[in-house]
Amino acid sequence: MRRFEPKRTATTTYGGLIEKIEVLRSTLRLTSRLERAEIQKLLKQCNALRDEVMLLSRKERFTQAAATRNLTDVESDSMKSSVRVSAAQRRQALIDRSFMFEGVFGESPKLLETLEIAEKAAPTDLPVLIDGESGTGKELLAKVIHANGSRANKPLISVNCGAIPENLLESELFGHKKGSFTGATNDRKGKFESAHKGTVFLDEVGELPLLGQVKLLRVLQSNEIQRVGSDETIEVDTRIVAATNRNLLEMVREGRFREDLYYRLSIIHVTLPALRERRDEIPLLIDFFCDEAAEKLQRSPLELSSRLRTFLLGYDYPGNIRELRNLIFRMSCLAADIADLEQLPETIRPIINGLKLTDRPNTRLTLVEAKKAASDQAEKFFLEQALKEVKGKVSELANKTGMNRSHLQTLLKKHGIRSKDFKVKPALNINTPTSTHAHREGSS
Ligand SMILES: Nc1ncnc2c1ncn2[C@@H]1O[C@H](COP(=O)(O)OP(=O)(O)OP(=O)(O)O)[C@@H](O)[C@H]1O
Ligand SMILES: [Mg+2]
Repeated sequence: MRRFEPKRTATTTYGGLIEKIEVLRSTLRLTSRLERAEIQKLLKQCNALRDEVMLLSRKERFTQAAATRNLTDVESDSMKSSVRVSAAQRRQALIDRSFMFEGVFGESPKLLETLEIAEKAAPTDLPVLIDGESGTGKELLAKVIHANGSRANKPLISVNCGAIPENLLESELFGHKKGSFTGATNDRKGKFESAHKGTVFLDEVGELPLLGQVKLLRVLQSNEIQRVGSDETIEVDTRIVAATNRNLLEMVREGRFREDLYYRLSIIHVTLPALRERRDEIPLLIDFFCDEAAEKLQRSPLELSSRLRTFLLGYDYPGNIRELRNLIFRMSCLAADIADLEQLPETIRPIINGLKLTDRPNTRLTLVEAKKAASDQAEKFFLEQALKEVKGKVSELANKTGMNRSHLQTLLKKHGIRSKDFKVKPALNINTPTSTHAHREGSS
């Protein structure tokens, strides 16, 4: 059977795709019988083609949205147009240089700066540390870095450092030899070996226990691993991208993260901004996710009532872009043509009522709804004040108020209150190397 090798390149075009489909078609036309293994191979090729089509369609949507956005920006806000044009030019320049966005969408200067750093970092083998709150797109950015680098056709292997039990960590990362511990029934490759010539994505690297940190550091220094139970050293060539939603420098100060490992991982350091710090992007992201949801759920793109749109533009998004995306997908599933506040999850609905009461008295509320809204508002106010007093320490607040800690956590979540926002930040006293510092400043 003639081999068809789908290859993801930076320059996927419709012409190129059609050519690959034709090769696949003639493969099938010339084949009289197919064995199971060959069917599997063909399915794999079809999946690769589908991925390419998705990529192309995302890229196209990005270009179209950017173009529409530029027009309306210039028309509607001449004051901002010079800033907008330069953001648009930067985005267009990335598109022109065949930058692979991998579904990353947005136009804030902070995000563009991050993408430009990613573009420069991608072809090198320098380690990249990505931090930012949950749902800000750290994993997606890791994919972008991998896809734009010279290792794009090699594996990108993800390791969730927070999800591996401490006693299995070494075996997960570096593999093991048959019989080296109970349950090791076969020789097994670890993540580093599987990612040879490719990229290892160390997700939630802040969760790595100290012993694991030592072992990781050793591998990063020597580029060699040893499977558990084996004396043989195996050379590995992997690029490291790590992500965390923790403040690693603070952990270094507290002795919970090794300083030498921190500096090894953060030669290039980017911080993804929270969605509430780049509100300008929310309308664009809403449209993008409405389109994406329409495509996935096979429906027409959702329209939003004006009060729902107002809510979505002003909401704080503790779960960041993931939360916005989930909201749009949920509403695209539940709503008919036009979505309204009712299609929002109940956990965030009380906030809407609170907003209505304080900002715009709404006589359409029933007395019961108005009472509930006032009670929610009072609850939120109480929690914020009380957290301020205990400097963000949830367990202290639970003791002080005699409340169950997990119930308290549920209430905080319901109101989108993050205890860490009330914590007192200690002053920085570590001398950060110039390169790391410059990147951090450049990206935040
Ligand atoms: N700029 C963006 N454009 C489009 N989609 C985005 C963007 N950023 C994030 N997303 C989407 O938001 C969701 C969350 O992204 P991702 O998993 O990369 O976040 P994360 O920072 O790794 O979160 P966590 O810390 O919880 O692991 C994904 O569905 C991702 O595709
Ligand atoms: Mg993640």
